[in-house]
Parts: sequence; structure tokens; C-alpha cells
Amino acid sequence: MDFSILRLLSPLLFFLAATAAASTSVRQCLLSAVQNDPTLVALNGDLLYQTLDVKVYNLNWPVIPAAVTFPKSSQQVAAIVRCAASLNYKVQAKSGGHSYGNYGLGGSNGAININLQNMKSFSMDTTTWQATVGSGMLNGELDAYLHNAGNRAIAHGTSPQIGVGGHATIGGLGPTARQYGMELDHVLSAEVVLANGSIVQASPTENPDLLFAIKGAGASFGIVTKFVFRTEPEPGQAVQYSFTFGIGSTSSRANLFKQWQSFITQPDLTRKFASICTILDGSMVISGTYFGSKSEYDALGLDTQFPGMTNSTVIVISDWLGLLAQWAQQALLDIGGGIPADFYARCLSFEEKTPIPASGVDKLFEYLDSATTGALIWFVIFDLEGGAINDVPINATGYAHRDTVFWMQSYAITLGSVSQTTYDFLDGINQVIRENTPGLGDGVYPGYVDPRLQNPRHAYWGSNLPELERIKTLYDPEDVFHNPQGVLPA
Ligand SMILES: Cc1cc2nc3c(=O)[nH]c(=O)nc-3n(C[C@H](O)[C@H](O)[C@H](O)COP(=O)(O)OP(=O)(O)OC[C@H]3O[C@@H](n4cnc5c(N)ncnc54)[C@H](O)[C@@H]3O)c2cc1C
Ligand SMILES: *[C@@H]1O[C@H](CO)[C@@H](O)[C@H](O)[C@H]1NC(C)=O
Ligand SMILES: *[C@@H]1O[C@H](CO)[C@@H](O)[C@H](O)[C@H]1NC(C)=O
Ligand SMILES: *[C@@H]1O[C@H](CO)[C@@H](O)[C@H](O)[C@H]1NC(C)=O
Repeated sequence: MDFSILRLLSPLLFFLAATAAASTSVRQCLLSAVQNDPTLVALNGDLLYQTLDVKVYNLNWPVIPAAVTFPKSSQQVAAIVRCAASLNYKVQAKSGGHSYGNYGLGGSNGAININLQNMKSFSMDTTTWQATVGSGMLNGELDAYLHNAGNRAIAHGTSPQIGVGGHATIGGLGPTARQYGMELDHVLSAEVVLANGSIVQASPTENPDLLFAIKGAGASFGIVTKFVFRTEPEPGQAVQYSFTFGIGSTSSRANLFKQWQSFITQPDLTRKFASICTILDGSMVISGTYFGSKSEYDALGLDTQFPGMTNSTVIVISDWLGLLAQWAQQALLDIGGGIPADFYARCLSFEEKTPIPASGVDKLFEYLDSATTGALIWFVIFDLEGGAINDVPINATGYAHRDTVFWMQSYAITLGSVSQTTYDFLDGINQVIRENTPGLGDGVYPGYVDPRLQNPRHAYWGSNLPELERIKTLYDPEDVFHNPQGVLPA
């Protein structure tokens, strides 16, 4: 008998047997972590795994995790992390699943994903108005709980489908953040599962370095299972404004942007004023919220500040949930809400000392009006933040962008994967602004994940990076909590 064929096959057979054994042992370990409930564990290869369990958000960066788990308690999360660490898998949590790079799924193939959709507990202490919130809660769900628990609120972005887990560990910029700080600034303490499977508190008195790290770089340090948040009273009356400007000449559009930029960079601008300037293919929109009465709003004189609008809507809204619904609708129009798509986004940070000079604005609009985009839809959003966010010292939390006054986010949605033409288009926007804005920093908001970023850790965490690396070495020296751009042990 000729054994050569068998000899040839044996490494393959060995490999298959070993793979099967590994996947059996990981399945067994994960199942025992969740008290053998088979509905709480899915492995790569299971029926409809990618569609039902994985659910990639940005189709442009496909990811296949080794397993997806749906724990129901912090103890189960801890047991899953222990399985992963002992079997040499990377681990990442997914809350609302809105990471631009699918980092909640690990960001690259083969990680164990902890989906927090069954971790949505809520309680309110009505003496301190501190809320204890499960990290799988979505911001829209949290708003309803807070409303019902005594007309309380918390600052966050406008999309109700974003998860608290990813928002409060990274930032959480939104219309009320200029008054109250970002969602991250509301974190008083947290329950965290560490890489060795222990469950600890992170607070100003217990593991304060861990609290520093999860307030800005959470994904690299543990799985937050619960947050304790300070809350604020619901804002009262507010005015929602939206001004649309038709196509216009390149220079008239550039001038409008200059007017907006000088308005929002006034040093004494009220924190009750929130504003976004969106540049689209055929139009520009200046929109936002004023938190106060109609007469206070009128005193700002926005329609004389920004002449030439082709349409305007100004709505007075007296209830917070009504305002949230307005924002949600707007968010849906802007970026398609929670619908998976192929897209790419880039970000720039502008400080008080680095607005785009007039000549740079002219060059930007010349570029936008002449470039080939390759995109189905594209837009560039400039978003005023600052205010209370910037009252916090840079070294008080892992979040490092306390000097940013406004952010740029360029966004392209494509039919099929993002092409080089579209990458070049968005790269070109950054380049034309950078070349014409002396002193512009390298900061990028870590919530606007950019998988193509050069030197991403420096861009996301700036001067806090060395301290974060030191803390990473203490809490996760083997880099169990890994994504492609996460903080690494020193
Ligand atoms: C349509 C849209 C609108 C947006 N609007 C805004 C906005 O207005 N303001 C703003 O600031 N940002 C905004 N973002 C960015 C958004 O805040 C970030 O993408 C955020 O990280 C998403 O959180 P998530 O829980 O939904 O996502 P996920 O993908 O679930 O998580 C994002 C990251 O956080 C980690 N993570 C999640 N849960 C935990 C946990 N419990 N413990 C530790 N790490 C965890 C994940 O591993 C991942 O790295 C928007 C994004 C989208 C897609
Ligand atoms: C102006 O905006 C309103 C509300 O968005 C819309 O219903 C109306 O059709 C718009 N009018 C024009 C002329 O575009
Ligand atoms: C933070 O920075 C301030 C100002 O630079 C400094 O005085 C303070 O000691 C720093 N705090 C820590 C914890 O490093
Ligand atoms: C787990 O890690 C933390 C942080 O490094 C450490 O303080 C703790 O003692 C470890 N626990 C166990 C059981 O090893």
C-alpha cells in the first residue's frame, strides 16, 4: 500500500483535528461561562452567524470574529474573558455597534466578541440623581429611563442607537455637551471586568488609574459592565434651527463658511448655543439648537449673521423628548442612522488658535467644487463643541481633546467598497485644510475611528498616551483587550 498520500494529507488532517478540538474547547468553555445556555454563544461557522450574530456595521471593513457571546451578568462577562485569555483569544465588547471600524467585533478576524445587548439594567438614586446603567443600554433607551426617573437627562450624540458602552468610554459629543460636558464626563465610577477575569470598581478612590483609562480609551482596558453617571435636569425650552443655502457660487459658499466659523469661535459665545455647518454636494446647511427662549434666540440675530438662505425652519420645542426626536430624525437624514453601509470618514480637530484662515477656506471650497469623489453621497460636517468639555484638565481623563473648539468630519458613502478615488477625495480635504492652516494639530476624535490613520494612538490620545500605556501594562499586559488601533502595553 502506498502511504505517501496519507503522509501528504496527515498535516492537513492534524490541522483539521486540532482546529475542531480548539473550536470544541472554546465552545465548551464559553458555554460553561454562560451556564450552558446555547442561545448565548455563537461560533464562526454556525448557521447565519454573520447575519444574525456578528452584524458588521461598516461593510467596508469586514470582520469575522471567532465567537459572539451574549452574557446576562457581569459574572458571565468575567467567565467569558477568562476563557478567551486562557485560550489566547483577543476580546472586545460591543454595545451599540456603531464603531466606524467595527472595533466592537475586534476590528480584525478571530476575536471573541462580547455583545452587551442583555446588559441594560437601570436604577436611579433620587437623592443624588446618580443613575446606574448597564453598558449595553442605547442612548435612546437611556433617555427614556432618565425621563421617567424624574425628568433627568445626560449629554450625548444625536443618534439614539449609539451604545452607552462605546460612547461613555470614548467621548460622547452632542448638543448639550457645551453646557454639561460629554457623556464621558458624566461617568463617576464604573464596574469593570479586567483581563484576568476579576470584576473591580473604578472610581476616584478605587483603581483611580483605571477610571482615568476607561474615560477615553475603555476598549483597551476592560469591559465596562455598569456605569454610575451624574445626570442633569432636562433642558427646558429650546429652539431648533435649520438654514439651507442653495448651490451658490464657490466664493459665496466659502464666505458663508467664514461667517459661520467666526461666529462660533467668538470667545464669549454662550454655551446654550449648539451649531453644525454641513457642506453637501449641492447645498450647505447651518443647523443646531439654542437652549433657551425664542426671544433669547432671536437676540443672537442668526438670520442677519448668515444671509442668503433659501429655506429656514425654526421650531420652538418645549419638551426634551420632543427635541430628542427632532435630533434623531436629523441624524437619520444625515448619516443613515443605524443602517449598515460601506463608508469612510476622516476627522480634524480645530482649536481656538487654529481656525481655517480665509485663504484656506477659499481653497477648500475650490477643491470641493472640482474634485472627483467616487461616492454615492458625501458631506463634510463642522461641529461646534468646547464649552464645558474644555473646563476639564487634559490630564484628568484619558480623553485628550480638551482644547478642541470644533471638529470636522468628512464622510463618504459608496456603492460597494470604498474606492481609491474616494479615499483620495477625503484625504484631499484633510490635505488642503492642513496645508493652509498653520499650527493645526494632529488630534482625531477616537469615536470617529479611521482605520487608515497614520500614527493613530498619538492622534486619538495625544499627550495622555504615555500614561495610558503605563496603565495598560498594569491591567492588561498581554493585550487581551485588543483592536487594531488600541493602546498597547508600554
Ligand atoms: C450614525 C453615527 C452617529 C454618530 N454620532 C455621534 C455623535 O453625535 N457624537 C459622538 O460623540 N459620536 C458619534 N458617533 C460616534 C460614536 O460615538 C462612536 O462610534 C461610539 O464609539 C459608538 O459606540 P457604540 O457602543 O454604538 O459602538 P460599539 O461598536 O459597540 O463600540 C465602540 C467601541 O467601544 C468599545 N466598547 C463598547 N462597549 C464597551 C464596554 N462596555 N466596555 C469597554 N469598551 C466598550 C468597543 O469595543 C468599540 O471599540 C456616531 C457614530 C455613528 C455611526
Ligand atoms: C423648506 O423646508 C421645509 C421643512 O424642511 C420643507 O417642508 C419645504 O419643502 C422646504 N421648502 C423649500 C422651498 O425647499
Ligand atoms: C495635570 O496637569 C496640571 C497642569 O499641567 C498639573 O499641575 C498636574 O500636576 C497634573 N496632574 C497630574 C495627575 O499629572
Ligand atoms: C487581576 O488584575 C488586577 C490588575 O492587574 C490585579 O490587581 C489583581 O490582583 C488580579 N487578580 C487576580 C485574581 O489575579
